[in-house]
Amino acid sequence: MRKKIIAANWKMYKTCTETESFIAEFKNLAGNYEEKEVVICPPFTSLFVVQNLLKDTPFKLGAQNMFWEKEGAYTGEISPVMLKDLNCEYVIIGHSERRQYFCETNENINKKIKTAFNWGLTPIFCVGEKWEEREKGKTEDIIREQVTKGLEGLPMENVEKIVIAYEPVWAIGTGHSAKGEDANEVAKLIRDIISTLYNSDIANKVRIQYGGSVNPQNIVEFLSQSEIDGALVGGASLKPQSFWEIVKS
Ligand code: PGA
Repeated sequence: MRKKIIAANWKMYKTCTETESFIAEFKNLAGNYEEKEVVICPPFTSLFVVQNLLKDTPFKLGAQNMFWEKEGAYTGEISPVMLKDLNCEYVIIGHSERRQYFCETNENINKKIKTAFNWGLTPIFCVGEKWEEREKGKTEDIIREQVTKGLEGLPMENVEKIVIAYEPVWAIGTGHSAKGEDANEVAKLIRDIISTLYNSDIANKVRIQYGGSVNPQNIVEFLSQSEIDGALVGGASLKPQSFWEIVKS
């Protein structure tokens, strides 16, 4: 059984003060909820605050990005060692906004995924096609390329622990989510690709999230699909009440 996993991707939102009030309110609502795994991925500047406030709760901490070196002269970057030191367990890798605005390539993403595992962090590895690609019938090719290159050279024992977020780029932040069945079809494709690259046992252990305009009204449509094991939530994770409604759905 794959435990469902709901992750909040706050992107570049919330100061430390705003973070504190979110966490206080979320803890009030969620108590010690453990039915699904809950991960909060705030901006780097709020990681320390969140790790302190989440002590003694079942909720986990994640980062939104990371560099692949341990340390060095890389102005502006954050290393896996720094994230581990803050008790981060997860790190989002290869989000489409990183691919689009910060020139992340499948090759860079592969390095980051390997590095994350080397330091005991679990990647939430994002893949997804753009609208033009879907229209031209290229979804399968794009997903196959992203998954294959992203996982290249990764040992089986790591692959089975990875979380993959299928996030169609056209659904992110637009209010137009994918249809549950369409998302399930791509999640199934991802599992088939992993099955071919590794084996079906490994493929059946990987947790696959859907992301892109998830909200309290549509979450059930995704969680009820056979291949979807959770969600990566942007906008609707910024308010404690709506995030909690998604989590408990
Ligand atoms: P959204 O973002 O829920 O605001 O569409 C999802 C994401 O980018 O992870």
